[in-house]
Amino acid sequence: MTSQNSSLEVYLNIQMFSVLEKALSVSDLSVGYQDKKSVVRNVSFDILRGQTLCLVGESGSGKTTIARAVVGLSEAWIQGDVRIDGTSVFDLDRDAKRRLLKKKVSFIFQDPFGSLVPILTVGTQMKRVVGFRNGLRDKTVIRQRCFDLLARVGMSDAENIWNRTPAQLSGGMCQRIMIAMAMCVEPVLVFADEPTSALDAMTQETILSLLQQLQGTSRFGMLFITHDMRLAAKYSDMVAVLYNGEIIELNEIHRFIREPKTEYAKQLLESAKRLSVAF
Ligand SMILES: Nc1ncnc2c1ncn2[C@@H]1O[C@H](COP(=O)(O)OP(=O)(O)OP(=O)(O)O)[C@@H](O)[C@H]1O
Ligand SMILES: [Mg+2]
Repeated sequence: MTSQNSSLEVYLNIQMFSVLEKALSVSDLSVGYQDKKSVVRNVSFDILRGQTLCLVGESGSGKTTIARAVVGLSEAWIQGDVRIDGTSVFDLDRDAKRRLLKKKVSFIFQDPFGSLVPILTVGTQMKRVVGFRNGLRDKTVIRQRCFDLLARVGMSDAENIWNRTPAQLSGGMCQRIMIAMAMCVEPVLVFADEPTSALDAMTQETILSLLQQLQGTSRFGMLFITHDMRLAAKYSDMVAVLYNGEIIELNEIHRFIREPKTEYAKQLLESAKRLSVAF
């Protein structure tokens, strides 16, 4: 083999490896609601396995719209290409898309109380989700699986919370339960839309550290939507800054903090610094 061939081979291997390793690839995505005007325009970014990309930007800039459009959980019109674990989502029919999402994608939302059904016990809700997403029927197996998941998120006293309703638990405990359910399939991709903004500062750190630790073992890619630049800096690898529906900066997080390019990003970082100094 000539040296030219071998370097070509190495190059192709790297290309193949990086294609295979993409948890999410969004290309030229535009999204709009009924009135035809786009609220998200020509957005492109990738998230590799084991990597967290945070999406930051002012309220109404289109962060949640992107997360929902990417998985087709939206009544909006959508243009562009989205690949989850290499599969082009918009080419799939409804059933195939459901199967893909059921097996590979999990969501953690802002308000754990709102995401859990208030009148059903933790056990009932977990059994439903874990059984459905894993195609399990045996009640003993499902229960054991739920207990294992609760232990994985630091709730080894599962017996104690099993028959309680969300109203009888703290916000942090509810968010741990949401994370346990999110982990029930070893997802390739996790969407965390302001997962800790309903929690106090210390619980925020605990929950995000837990997600980081789970990511270390499961290597899921994560889209982390937040308003908090301090948390973004601590728990992300990459950052995308959304301004009025467009990505105006996409960079590795530490480089972004050192060298923000746009005026808006500079202001975001300045206000985060001012807040830290105030304490
Ligand atoms: N279902 C909908 N129908 C029509 N317009 C919508 C719908 N959902 C969102 N929008 C509009 O799309 C724009 C982007 O909203 P989006 O919820 O994506 O913003 P966001 O960046 O997530 O804001 P926040 O930080 O407040 O959560 C806003 O102008 C909003 O009013
Ligand atoms: Mg939002």
